[in-house]
Amino acid sequence: MKNITVVGVGYVGLVTGACFADLGNRVVCLDIDKERIENLNKGIMPIYEPGLAELVERNVRADRLHFTTSYAEALKDAEFVFIAVGTPEGVDGEADLQYVRMAAETIAQEMDHPLILINKSTVPVGTGDWVADIVRENQPKPVDFSVVSCPEFLREGSAIPDFLHPDRTILGSEDPEAAERVAQLHLPLRAPIMITDLRTAEMIKYASNAFLATRISFINEIANICEALGADVKEVAKGMGFDKRIGHHFLEAGVGYGGSCFPKDVKALAHMAQVHGRHPQLLQAVMDINAYQRKHVVIKLHELLGDSLEGKVIALLGLAFKQDTDDMREAPSITIGDYCREEGAVVRGYDPVARETALRAMPYLELTDNAYELAEGADALVVLTPWNEFMQLDMARVKEAMHTPILIDGRNLYEPSKMRELGFQYRGIGRGYNGEGLR
Ligand code: UDX
Repeated sequence: MKNITVVGVGYVGLVTGACFADLGNRVVCLDIDKERIENLNKGIMPIYEPGLAELVERNVRADRLHFTTSYAEALKDAEFVFIAVGTPEGVDGEADLQYVRMAAETIAQEMDHPLILINKSTVPVGTGDWVADIVRENQPKPVDFSVVSCPEFLREGSAIPDFLHPDRTILGSEDPEAAERVAQLHLPLRAPIMITDLRTAEMIKYASNAFLATRISFINEIANICEALGADVKEVAKGMGFDKRIGHHFLEAGVGYGGSCFPKDVKALAHMAQVHGRHPQLLQAVMDINAYQRKHVVIKLHELLGDSLEGKVIALLGLAFKQDTDDMREAPSITIGDYCREEGAVVRGYDPVARETALRAMPYLELTDNAYELAEGADALVVLTPWNEFMQLDMARVKEAMHTPILIDGRNLYEPSKMRELGFQYRGIGRGYNGEGLR
């Protein structure tokens, strides 16, 4: 059993804290947001994540997991302090490090025994060194500490299994002994552990996310070419994926990547490159293609509904940036909804989970309680999130409810020929439509 403190109970911090507690450690989670801590003490989660509420409850009951707003209390017995505060996007795509700075300053002022500070937040390369400087400068009297970078690779919706069964643990530090102690903490996860220097570990996180985003933009570009040439991108991706050097993951064409990581991280990496006089041409193309995928949906709407969307009812099926989350950050639905709204359309939406978060992001949205109500009198149905339940819908009933049976399948959930048989005017992404209903 180790004593662990986690600073910041956002997505990453809460999952990290709850999982380390479940592995048998004593964990104190700290946040400066009083309401968030009060709610957590009452068992109310700040985010939707499958299994998280149960995991938190179990470990609070077992007296292994505690929540506080007090640094003094959180640091009293700590050996390891994870920094998992937010790093929102600042100007020019540069990460905003004000919360990391605040956490480092306060830890420095409050620490009275040696600590290992572990950075979980995605931070620009070089931040580990910067954090060490801040701590040194703000300590009232010198106390030993080391900084280790341990980037997270959690996906929303599967964050707990991702934490408990990672592909790898990356640790970076200039202090091999500290890195070794953090490695020991991760041994129960039974994944390969790679120890490297601080800056390389920080870079591994950016490079991994940028690579995955590149795969998505790559397949989206192929999808757009497939549309022109009459090929089916789903089959193309499947065929490509059998090559072991390529693999099947992250080759689903659609409305582009969203969420709290990919858009922010690709932009931040490009920005870091530019600041240092490099030209991140590929990263720029990845971002441009991603932005185009949203516009492409609106172009398809115009193709089918004519030049004006004025007064048309556009029904968005799925609002969250992906399935199994209520997260609306950088969700394609926002950009597409905004475009339609600007053109005078009535924008309606349904999502099984993202409701309040969706209304906050799109105050003009007419939210419905289910997919059939969404389709009622709609001029076009646009699929934006690949929720499993959407695949079980009675699509004949959906079609009957609509004013005009236009289906833009932004996630390629449905079989084009079946949808056309049902009488939909169907458009997928890269599904080889040649203008005459080829597929
Ligand atoms: C991602 C990384 O996977 C994770 O390692 C990192 O720590 C945080 O960022 P997340 O944002 O939760 O996780 O979602 P992910 O499942 O990776 O999907 C990202 C976006 O790409 C979503 O918008 C998803 O819909 C889209 N996507 C994913 C595609 O469009 N096509 C694909 O083939 C895969």
